[in-house]
Amino acid sequence: MNLFDSPDVSAEKLQSTVEGAVNGLKLYKLLKTSIELEIFDILTKKTTCRQLSEKLGIEPLLVHYILEILVKIGLAKKNGEAYRNTRLSEIYLNSSSDYKRTDCITSLEEDLSLWNNLASTLKGKIVKKDEAFFPRIVQVMAEDCLSGELQETVKLIASYNEFKGSKTLLDLAGGHGMYSIAFNQIKPDLKCYVFDLPAVLEETSKFIENYESNVKTIPGNFYTDDFGDGYDTIFSSYNPGGKNPKIAEKVYRSLNLGGLFVNKQYFPEKGKSSLGDLLDNLEWNFTNFGKSNKAAKRFTFKDDMSLGEYMNFLEELGFVVMDVYPINHLNITFGTRSEDKIIVAKKVR
Ligand SMILES: C[S@@+](CC[C@H](N)C(=O)[O-])C[C@H]1O[C@@H](n2cnc3c(N)ncnc32)[C@H](O)[C@@H]1O
Repeated sequence: MNLFDSPDVSAEKLQSTVEGAVNGLKLYKLLKTSIELEIFDILTKKTTCRQLSEKLGIEPLLVHYILEILVKIGLAKKNGEAYRNTRLSEIYLNSSSDYKRTDCITSLEEDLSLWNNLASTLKGKIVKKDEAFFPRIVQVMAEDCLSGELQETVKLIASYNEFKGSKTLLDLAGGHGMYSIAFNQIKPDLKCYVFDLPAVLEETSKFIENYESNVKTIPGNFYTDDFGDGYDTIFSSYNPGGKNPKIAEKVYRSLNLGGLFVNKQYFPEKGKSSLGDLLDNLEWNFTNFGKSNKAAKRFTFKDDMSLGEYMNFLEELGFVVMDVYPINHLNITFGTRSEDKIIVAKKVR
């Protein structure tokens, strides 16, 4: 090899990809650890580097760099010698805030751990038990939806006359039950029922109790059990069966004539995938569920229909699709900017 010959392609792009990736991981770890060390609870009040260092039992120089990094990413502000939360960290990272997103952030570590031993993850598919996975994920989703998605969804549905006239609502695969709790708050005479796996409903009951709500629960598996009938509104959000024709048929049978079916759901769009989409799709295939069979793309399952197929199917069943709304929220649980839709359909025959 002649050492005077340079390679014919620069290493700059490769190096910047590596640096971006490694810095991203470092930042995530720093943020997660700051949450675990309760730094954002301490920074509710003005705190100097030395005071924080004493509280945490960590060397002042290290604490100095942590604080300066938090300032750089907009999660702390500095005034003289003192540091304090910004509005962003006060609302979303302080553990006593109603809108805290700390579980959303710390729970991402679990999936990251699958990347730590990537070669072994790639060679053996891990099977997750639905009963073990869902009770944990609904905690994260309860926190996640409170950043705006729940409020917007509930206000939107509440504007429909069919909802205003409803006496009963079924929240199919309702998980934490926060949507039902909110529907019941906005319309106290509405009887709301959350249908979900029995193990998940143990968590749902805690949310219902916390909010002193009258929402009721119905245990069951929507693939194999019926979920009752005579409902005026059926609401379903990110239900793994929400693109499945058999579940749509069951919804049709359970709904009163003139009733509303609201399905908030991820419908992947055809076309170019972003780098984030490809990474998510790869990760989705690291694991499978015991009960629900995953399909190739993230948040998709066996027998799922596309948005167009699903809407046609609803019309064939006897629904009129009244509206389809896009949701472009930043949604942690569902990747970055997900392709979510709210379908509002009415049973007309
Ligand atoms: C992604 S979470 C959505 C939770 C909530 N609706 C929301 O939007 O935040 C999916 C929900 O579907 C429930 N689920 C999954 N498989 C189910 C099944 N076979 N029968 C009933 N519920 C199921 C899970 O327990 C979980 O609560």
